[in-house]
Parts: sequence; C-alpha cells; structure tokens
Amino acid sequence: MKLEEAKRLVSKLRSEINYHNYRYYVLDDPEISDQEYDQLLKRLIEIEAQFPELITPDSPTQRVGATPQLGFTEVAHRVPMLSLENASSEEELRDFLRRVKKGLGDLKEPSFLVDPKIDGLAVELVYQNGTLVSASTRGDGFVGENILANVKTIMSIPINLLPLKDAPPIPELLEVRGEIYMEKEDFKRLNKEREREGLPLFANPRNAAAGSVRQLDPKVTAKRKLNLFCYGVGSIEPNNFSTLYDLMIAMQSWGLRINRPFIRVFKTESEILGYLQELETRREELPYEIDGAVIKVNEIAYQTRLGQKTRSPRWAIAFKFKANQATTEILKIEVQVGRTGALTPVAHLRPVEIGGVIVRRATLHNQDEIQRKDIRIGDTVIVERAGDVIPEVVKVITSKRKGSEIPFKMPERCPVCNTRVVMKEGEVILRCPNPNCPAQSRAYLRHFVSRSAMNIEGLGKKILDQLVDKGIVKDPGDLYGLKKEDLLLLERMGPKLAENIISAIEKSKETTFQRFLFSLGIRYVGEHTAQILASHFGSLERLMEANEEELLAIEGIGPQAAESIVSYFSQDSNRDLIKRLINAGVRIQYPTRDLSEEISGKTFVLTGSLKSMTREEAKRLLQGKGAIFGSSVSKGTDYLVVGDSPGSKLQKARAMGIKILTEEDFLNLLGMGRP
Ligand code: IVH
Repeated sequence: MKLEEAKRLVSKLRSEINYHNYRYYVLDDPEISDQEYDQLLKRLIEIEAQFPELITPDSPTQRVGATPQLGFTEVAHRVPMLSLENASSEEELRDFLRRVKKGLGDLKEPSFLVDPKIDGLAVELVYQNGTLVSASTRGDGFVGENILANVKTIMSIPINLLPLKDAPPIPELLEVRGEIYMEKEDFKRLNKEREREGLPLFANPRNAAAGSVRQLDPKVTAKRKLNLFCYGVGSIEPNNFSTLYDLMIAMQSWGLRINRPFIRVFKTESEILGYLQELETRREELPYEIDGAVIKVNEIAYQTRLGQKTRSPRWAIAFKFKANQATTEILKIEVQVGRTGALTPVAHLRPVEIGGVIVRRATLHNQDEIQRKDIRIGDTVIVERAGDVIPEVVKVITSKRKGSEIPFKMPERCPVCNTRVVMKEGEVILRCPNPNCPAQSRAYLRHFVSRSAMNIEGLGKKILDQLVDKGIVKDPGDLYGLKKEDLLLLERMGPKLAENIISAIEKSKETTFQRFLFSLGIRYVGEHTAQILASHFGSLERLMEANEEELLAIEGIGPQAAESIVSYFSQDSNRDLIKRLINAGVRIQYPTRDLSEEISGKTFVLTGSLKSMTREEAKRLLQGKGAIFGSSVSKGTDYLVVGDSPGSKLQKARAMGIKILTEEDFLNLLGMGRP
C-alpha cells in the first residue's frame, strides 16, 4: 500500500469507527455487529502499524495510549463550575419556582427542563473546533484536575465531535459539562473483584467512578466501565441556541451522550412534581444511581437574566430524593435461624434514618461476608437500604476504629436448640440440621402467613411465637384448626383481635396456586419460581408427580430447584401437610388455561408506566392468566410491554429480538382492548 492510499483509508476507517462508537455508546442503537466493529478497528490497527507516521492522538486506537502520570496538573475553568442549591421538599421546590417567576418579572412564563441528578462526578470537556483538548474535574469550581488521558479511555466520550448530516454546525468552542458515573452492575462487579483481591471496597458507584477517574494510570481507568451523561455547557461560541433543550439535542447530534429518555420539559408546578414522583418510584429500576432530579429554567435568555448567587445559579435547583445510605454503629451481632435452618448473622445497629425509615438491623449474610468486609462489633459502618430488600452493611469505616471493636465468629451450635451446626461442601451457609428446631417452625410459620404467601393478616411474629411456644401450633396445618378460645390464651389478646385473626385465616383459604406453592417454603422455590411452576403445571397433582428431568426441561428451573422440589414432594410429612391444608378447606385457584397459548406460560416484562393499570395490577392480572411476570429482560422473556417513558429494557429487548407490545397491543392480547 502507498502512503497516499493508507492516508485515505485511515481517515475513512476512523470516521466509520467514530460513527459506530456513537451509534453504540451514545445512542445505544448499534448499526453493525460487534464482530464487524472489531474488524474495522483491527484494519485500522494494521495500517497504523505499517505507517506509524499516520498515528495521531485522536485516533480511536489511541484511547489507552498514554503512560502513567506522576500527578495531575491543574486546569482553570473558563466559566466557574457552580454547585446547585438543594430542595428536599415540595415546599422548597415551590419557593424556587416562585423566586424564578418573580425574578423574571413580566417576561413570558418560563419552561423547565427536568432530568435525573446522576450520582457521579462532574467533569468539563473542552472541544475546540470539534476536538477534545481538555478534560477536568470540578475541583473547587474554579480550578480542577486535568484528567484528559483518563477521560479518553471512556468510550462514550468522543475525541472528535461528529460532523453528522443535518446537525447544527459544531461550535468553535464548546465546554461540555456532564457527569461521569458507573452503572450499578459494573460497580458490583468491580467490588466483587476487589474483594477477591483483598482490596478496599468502594462504598458506592460514585466513589468507584471518582476513584477510577482519578487514577494516575489510564490503563486502570480503561478497565473500569465508566460512562458519561452531558447536561449542560460552560462557554459555547457561537451560541445560537435559545433553549437548554435545543442545545442538548444538538449536543447529542454532535456525538455527545445525553440522558434523552429522561429529559422532560414542563410548564407547570404540578407536572414537575408528577415527574419527580415518577422518577423517585422508578429509581431502583434505573441501571445507574440517581440522588434526585435537577430542575432548570429552559430558556437561555431567562437563565442569563436570572443570573447567579456566589456559588449557585438562580435558574436551577436540585431536588434531592431520600438518601439510601447512612453511617451508624454496630451494637451487637445476633444469629437468626431461618426456616431452612440457615444461620444468618444480623447486625443490631444504632437506629438510623435511611430514606424516611428507621433502620435498626442489617443482614451480614454469612461468616465469609463478615470476614471479607472485616466487620466487627462496635464498628462504624455504612448501611444501605435499597427498595424492599433487607438493609445491608456496605463497608466498615476503618478510620473510625478505636481498637475496642470485637471480631465476630459464627457459633458451633444452633443458638435455639443447641444442635451442632453443619455446612455442606461448597456452601458458605451454616445450618441447624435439627428438623424439629423450634426456630425453624417459627420461621416457617412466619413465611407461611406472610403477605406474598397465604397473606394472613394480624398473625404477627409475637403471636406466632407464642402459639408455637405454648404448643398450640406446630405447623401451618394447625393454623386452620385454630379456635377463638385458643387465641384468647395468649398474652395481650382481646376478643376483637382474636375474631379478626380467625376471619383472616378463613379468608386466606381462597388462594392461588402460585401463592400456595410459595407458602410451602420449598427450598429454592421463591415467588418467581412458584410462578413458573404454577403456570407450567396448572395443577398441584401434576406438579407432585413431576420428576427432575421434567422440571429441568422448564425454562427458569435449575438443578437445585428441581432436586429440592422432587425431594419435597417425596416426603410423607410434606404430602400429609398438603392433605391437611386441603381438608381444612384451603381452595387453590388454578390459572385459567382456556386463554390462547399466547399468554399462559409466557414471560412478560414491563417497562415504563401504563395508563390503564399500575405495575402491581398488571402483575396480578398476568399471573391470574398463568403468565410469568419477570423483572428484567433476558432470553427467557417472551414479551416486553412498553408503557410511557420506557427504560433501558426497551433497547435490550430490541437488541435481543424480543416481541414488543404497546399498551394497546397488551390490552388486546388480554382481551381488554377497546372494541
Ligand atoms: S445541572 C450550574 N444536571 O450535580 C450547575 N447537574 O449539585 C448545573 N449533576 O455539579 C448543573 N446530574 O455534577 C445538572 N442532570 C444534571 C446533573 C447534575 C448530576 C451534578 C453536577 C453538579 C451537581 C450540583
């Protein structure tokens, strides 16, 4: 190949690669396969190896080119990077909106751009004539650290802006502001890896992102999966945009990644509040952490007019959601025995508020986990409470150690029945092997009456424990023989409460197959597996006859569950219990099977919100028809139902070729569509 031709090829390959990077990392919508992309990159590497004089720092091959630095140099921000004032109540948000309107006087009503507040670290990227020339941290707002070499390893950050057709002209100077972050899954993976290597853990994705960007060796940064959302600008010359929204859309067309599905523009307070609520409820579902939302005046002229205070603009405010982590102290560690005999260490905490709930306990999982995290009694720790899961100790703050903290070891005997505990090979969980251990029957009963199982209201832990301790109830079968007089023997039990409990027990007799199965407490049969089994077998008799092979053939049932199910139904005591429950009047409603094969046994996943029903309603409806309601898109998913403001599940489902249903399609399929 001649130099001239190499030059031409290199330039063509580079723009192709940059374009496909953009499709993949910025739009999440690739046009070519990974293999085809790799081919392009390989070709470029080959030619550059042959003609090293053609290598330029902005070549896609040079993202991880830099050598470790000795330290970070400083970069002054042309326009200071301000911080935001916070609002943590609706009242404070209203005050902000009032202040804005007052500040604008008789100008036209402003509109507001609202987008999620990403919990990462702020960066500024400077593009001169479309080329990335500087990247820096926020620092003190005036001067930050030069992180250009590290930032170049982040694939969603373009080294050259894209001269796409139909895009507005690329400004001569563009200072992009955005948030670098790490997705929750990548954060978990990174921490697992660090645990294995004995390295200190990161407390949250934000620390992990910050730690990864502030690495002196760009090769380390390159290995961490980091990402960027752009949300604004410093200087932009020339600036032909009249709204922030237009500017953001333009940024996307230049190759910069914005959080497009979640950027909204509103006029009224109630619309804004509605969206904030939606974001807060969907927070767990997002693949990245958000700690609130930012509300910004959309019109750039109005922003200028409103101006700023010393450190924050008057045209924007951060609405903070409730935190999901807090720092507290471990007072003691108690060992609980579960319904399968599993021993779980539980930390008793100095009570602390997390996201509006007082947290007193956190699970420590098992001895391995305690050792890995080096958790001791008396330690100051970071506790996290996310969604409905049991709070967890994320990390010990070792710098707070006084030396008086006491290491913890799991007991050799069951703390309830004193039987020597055992650990199966390859497991990390200690178990009490005594099937008559009272702790197991208490825990089993608690499970049986719980909301997702037989849902017997009023039968709390204190009452159940008394019933077991007094020998009135040994197993769930006994619950259905309970009389009011039995209950009246208990402490703090009045006739009214006793009646309510009896009628709750009565009411629970009408149940679904899925609930019934889940109530049995078969190991490895959680709510989801119970759903799969219920819709597959359609009747208890058929399930009881199934062998391992038959079970293993079902999508979503693994070898452990299959073995455990067969073993459960092979035991006379379990078959007897089922008989007693049925004889006591428990009536199992089976999924209706007369519906077309299109629903029964199929897995549905929902993204976004439906107009006609809540998520919970959709779930119940589908389960009632023998379908499975999945939480994430996987190869076992049959349908993705797409509501308003869908999340990343949509892209994933598209990429996997999963059938996508609009709300209307969905209602039609259920036979609920409009005539
Ligand atoms: S707009 C004048 N939008 O929050 C500042 N900021 O507490 C305008 N942040 O330093 C900022 N997500 O690092 C904006 N969608 C978003 C954001 C966001 C995260 C960060 C940003 C800023 C901090 C302010």
